[in-house]
Amino acid sequence: MKDDLKTFIHNLPKAELHLHIEGTLEPELLFVLAERNSVKLPYTSIEAARKTYNFSSLQDFLNTYYQCARVLLHEQDFYDLTLAYLKRVASQNVRHAEIFFDPQTHTAHGVAFETMLDGITGALQDGKREPGISSELILCFLRDLSAKSAMETLRQALPYKDCIIAVGLDSSEIGNPPGKFREVFDLARTEGFLCVAHAGEEGPPGYIREALDILKVVRIDHGVKCQQDETLMQRLIDTQIPLTICPLSNIKLRIFDKMRDHNFKYLLERGLCVTINSDDPAYFGGYIEENYIDLQQALELTREQLAQAAKNSFTASFLGDTEKQRYIDEIDRL
Ligand code: ADE
Ligand code: ZN
Repeated sequence: MKDDLKTFIHNLPKAELHLHIEGTLEPELLFVLAERNSVKLPYTSIEAARKTYNFSSLQDFLNTYYQCARVLLHEQDFYDLTLAYLKRVASQNVRHAEIFFDPQTHTAHGVAFETMLDGITGALQDGKREPGISSELILCFLRDLSAKSAMETLRQALPYKDCIIAVGLDSSEIGNPPGKFREVFDLARTEGFLCVAHAGEEGPPGYIREALDILKVVRIDHGVKCQQDETLMQRLIDTQIPLTICPLSNIKLRIFDKMRDHNFKYLLERGLCVTINSDDPAYFGGYIEENYIDLQQALELTREQLAQAAKNSFTASFLGDTEKQRYIDEIDRL
């Protein structure tokens, strides 16, 4: 790749819209927290942990991801995790991040809702000053657990409405369609949360339609399977409902065999509002800049297409219109 294109990608102001905070747990911090909290790990070393990060499917990855998340026990752990992420991506010119967290992963082994929320929001507050990244928080329900459990989680979140902008849906997709969470999302919307959902990552295009029709989401996370349904494609073009696409994740979880097979460029050229994101960067081999670079190299994206992806990231964000325009103008001046 030409150096000037790498510099161009670096210089693009970027918004990260699909990032699981638990997925930023690098093996180095994993070992620090395991030691600090006396949690036994199934790895003998940092290198050994990294070596095992080869996944055959979403479920195969999730097994590792949930196991590693067990080292997160105290407010300070969540604070350290979140601030480390913000510091890292500030050096990639990320200006704004909308971050997922999975409360049920932690409450299942005795961590209080407040503990994780205070740790994460403390770091997000501090991160607004230094390194200077604006942020929002999105609470994700684990779709392989019951709707009842999701409803209990939503009720726990109600006192914290001020610091959670949206609810989302993640974890094992196949067999857990969006419609399972109709009532939970109905209540979430009534309570003023925006709604997003993972759909069409491994699951069929019908799950994307359910997320739109039943959960009334304003954004689809992943959504790459929309290509299999031309009527849905047209709907996504017409409505400009954004897709938060995660290229490295899609390769690591075998959604596409190779980056050259990825449909990002096709979707962009058809006029969908597609964005580039990192999902679980500690496990998938790269943060947002690496996602832009690998995708550009494989699909030969032009400068204009890279700029469009970055502009889309702000358009698709939950920022106000004035701020969105400020970033879009900045990209246009590059
Ligand atoms: N949780 C963390 N990463 C995820 C992904 N890519 N899909 C579904 N759930 C997730
Ligand atoms: Zn995800």
